[in-house]
Amino acid sequence: MCGIVAYVGHREACPLVLKGLKRLEYRGYDSAGVALLNGEGLKVYKKKGKVVDLEKELNGKELTATIGMGHTRWATHGEPNDVNAHPHYAFNRKLAIIHNGIIENYATLKENLIRKGHEFRSQTDSEVLIQFIEEIQKHTCCSLEEAVRQALQEVVGAYAIVIMSEDDPTQLIAARKGSPLVIGIGEGEFFMASDATPIIEYTKDVVYLNDYEVAVIKNGELKVTTLDNTQTTPYIQKVELELEAIEKGGFDHFMLKEIFEQPRSIADSMRGRVKADAGHLVLGGLRDYLDQLASSQRIVIVGCGTSWHAGLVAEYIFEELARIPVEVEYASEFRYRNPIIAERDVVIAISQSGETADTLAAIELAKSKGATIFGVCNVVGSSIARATHAGAYTHAGPEIGVASTKAFTAQVTVLTLMALAAAKRKGTISDTLFRQLLAELEALPAKVEKVLEGAERIKEIAYIFTYARNFIYLGRGLNFPVALEGALKLKEISYIHAEGYPAAEMKHGPIALIDEDMPVVFIATKDSSYEKVVSNIQEVKARKGRVIAIATEGETQLQNMVDFVIEIPKVHDILMPLISVIPLQLLAYYVAVMRGRNVDQPRNLAKSVTVE
Ligand code: F6R
Repeated sequence: MCGIVAYVGHREACPLVLKGLKRLEYRGYDSAGVALLNGEGLKVYKKKGKVVDLEKELNGKELTATIGMGHTRWATHGEPNDVNAHPHYAFNRKLAIIHNGIIENYATLKENLIRKGHEFRSQTDSEVLIQFIEEIQKHTCCSLEEAVRQALQEVVGAYAIVIMSEDDPTQLIAARKGSPLVIGIGEGEFFMASDATPIIEYTKDVVYLNDYEVAVIKNGELKVTTLDNTQTTPYIQKVELELEAIEKGGFDHFMLKEIFEQPRSIADSMRGRVKADAGHLVLGGLRDYLDQLASSQRIVIVGCGTSWHAGLVAEYIFEELARIPVEVEYASEFRYRNPIIAERDVVIAISQSGETADTLAAIELAKSKGATIFGVCNVVGSSIARATHAGAYTHAGPEIGVASTKAFTAQVTVLTLMALAAAKRKGTISDTLFRQLLAELEALPAKVEKVLEGAERIKEIAYIFTYARNFIYLGRGLNFPVALEGALKLKEISYIHAEGYPAAEMKHGPIALIDEDMPVVFIATKDSSYEKVVSNIQEVKARKGRVIAIATEGETQLQNMVDFVIEIPKVHDILMPLISVIPLQLLAYYVAVMRGRNVDQPRNLAKSVTVE
């Protein structure tokens, strides 16, 4: 949540920072601002709304500067308005800060500062932090760098910050705890950002700052210390990300591009791991831990939102193939319980961004109880990837649309591979089934392609339901989490109220909602629960509900029973969610577009939820 960018070097800072902010806008888009330092001093410009609104505000202003920083905000403390937008000045207007995270003890710090004569312009915790740093510097006459370290030792909460001072036009000071911060190292220039996307155009050499580290760029040099001022050696690594991966590539929206990328992203998540003809499955990152996974007595899966849905799919697959009991927990609930973790339990944390605060906290809690944690993350080098003992990346490529699509299918693919590997090691799967599932996985991208070829038909159906006020999504077995995911996609981007349920649960309550205005999406593929789902469809039709059925191709029974059929190719039951979710993503997308919604940046949401 919140995106931060900073630059110092020989280029014009303002256009570079604004371009970087646009790349990070998925992290929050309530307001945006920049700070620039030139011969006229430290200037801050900020505006409620998106980066384009800030650009309008900047029109005609003198913006020449070779050092600057910017912020795009997802409001936590204080409503989204011009005043609460970042950057925030210190009281004397000689320092400015951008901040991603939450300072939990800001109220106490603020009271103390007010007693010392400070006044505040905004309601934000970030302004409190910069005035706290200012106060420490004033009273101890130390360097700004030292004041930052001292202040952060007293701060409770999470932060990635960058600070500029009018006194030094060569200096940027950054620090992190719990929120990501990447430093790009160019030729005589430095970049800082919440992720590598604003940086890769200029350099591929990056340093991921660790928690409790402070980075100081001064006179063209980078120095990293811990909060107690021990110098550390920054580890410079090459970021493997191409520019085209973060551009729309001719699609109207990132979300549509990402839906259509799935044949490739699913293949990428299996690349180098699966060779069906040789019966070969290797998950390099888990090689040394496979015995532990296979012999675990219980798996606890933690995640949030779509990642939690992927966990629910994995529950069925692990239990079916590897015969290991699985519990799937919302990370946000898990972290505040006193969960029981036994010696042979393992925890799997699922996260696209690798930065979700609740998931990270759940990992720390499980670790403190002695659990071994495996990560299933998309963003390489992310906090969760680094906090886990081992794991398997999903390799779906950058997901920029706020609503998760290709990350879900990549997560399910990787979790299926993990379950298959554990089952093989444990001997709970026959060689024939193992090879069959590997072969079906290899054939899956072509089948996803086939579903995508039907996009026009889904668009027509979406048109008919554009103005629906509610939707119900129903499925059984592995298609129940898919129903939840379909409902989540629709509500988050179209703002239509939607509920997902296990199909058989409908008659225990939700059936009261069914009338001729209620669209009901059934995932009614030909699997072991098909006949039962057909009965549930009849119950809805008997009450005049309007049914859209996701059905296996060649299926005839449903054609005369429901209002609309969307056909998808036949796959093994275990792999069905990877196919059945695709039409639901498209349906949500087209409904939202037809309602004129901002699909890539839906209201109130942010891609990476780094606050609890
Ligand atoms: C829904 C969505 C969110 C995320 C959730 C977890 O489309 O994107 O529900 O799935 O915020 O995020 P990650 O996977 O980054 O931990």
